Amino acid sequence: MKRIKAWKIVCMALIPVVLLLIGTVVFRGFSAKEEEAIKIGVVIYRGDDAFISSMAVALEKQAKLVGEEIGKKIILNLVDAKNSQGSQNAQVDTFISGKYDAICVNMVDRTVASTIIDKAKEADIPIVFFNREPVEKDLLIWEKTCYVGTDAREAGKMEGQMVVDAYQDAPEAIDKNGDGKLQYVILEGEESHQDSLIRTEYSLKTITDSGIEMQRLERGIGNWMRSPAYEQMLLWLNRYGDSIEVVLSNNDEMAMGVIEALKEKEMLEEGPLIVGIDGGKDAKEEIRQGHMQGTVVNDADGQARVIIQIACAYVQGRDPEKEVPVLKGKYAFIPHYTVTKKDLKE
Ligand code: BGC
Ligand code: CA
Repeated sequence: MKRIKAWKIVCMALIPVVLLLIGTVVFRGFSAKEEEAIKIGVVIYRGDDAFISSMAVALEKQAKLVGEEIGKKIILNLVDAKNSQGSQNAQVDTFISGKYDAICVNMVDRTVASTIIDKAKEADIPIVFFNREPVEKDLLIWEKTCYVGTDAREAGKMEGQMVVDAYQDAPEAIDKNGDGKLQYVILEGEESHQDSLIRTEYSLKTITDSGIEMQRLERGIGNWMRSPAYEQMLLWLNRYGDSIEVVLSNNDEMAMGVIEALKEKEMLEEGPLIVGIDGGKDAKEEIRQGHMQGTVVNDADGQARVIIQIACAYVQGRDPEKEVPVLKGKYAFIPHYTVTKKDLKE
């Protein structure tokens, strides 16, 4: 009895020593690994943007994959600027003082990138911008900086083409009042975003260039978000009823708001033709159910891959242009593709 007690005491006394030893070993091993790893800081403009949150997931995934390919662990630290440029600047400062190897920035206000670029240049830390395009003059400040995104003109053209194709297939199904014109409304993203204006212009132009006459009933700014688009569409439905024949949306989230409004009014089944951009999960589901004509895929995975590849090339002293063929000078534009119902069946 006494012996057991004595052993117990010895064991108990040893526990902290053992823990300390394990702790030291684990800590030393980890920190050594951390030293070796490529540390990438990512700051997104706002985490409640559906497309950007899919970019965040894609970046985590690609950091793992690219790390395996180049035989290096990549540590990704992703933070959310919550739509505040001031917070974003402070977050970048923290990455710089924390000696991150590369920083990836999704600007809140794309016109003020020079502040961030100047600081990164001074610290010799490469910067990859994505999704919100800085002005070219700013990108030219520093050789280890570039932009990864998509070509808004291409997205607009593809979006417009989906309307053209649907019209050519069955004109009477879309031009419901049979006046030879398509009465439409358009939902646009943020006014300051490079993609909004260009997507709008080219989707319309593609339709009218094909010989279809378009008549705009309304345009509204939905800032890429579902709920302002829903509010707008409710107003428009009250005003125009079923005379809205086409809805062009700068992205899928706003198209989802439109669909919610149509559902609420019980007008979805016989509703207008709706097209969007992004290739989001919800949009695909609406396409499958026949509520939405199609979407243009904004390839988050493709962009994330290129962002990580370029960042690693800069960090390891290789020329990213040689490694990433889609990067030309300061720009890498990842191609779009469309998804309509027939693509989902396959
Ligand atoms: C996407 C939008 C997104 C925006 C954020 C665009 O490229 O299509 O869905 O809200 O980027 O900057
Ligand atoms: Ca018509």
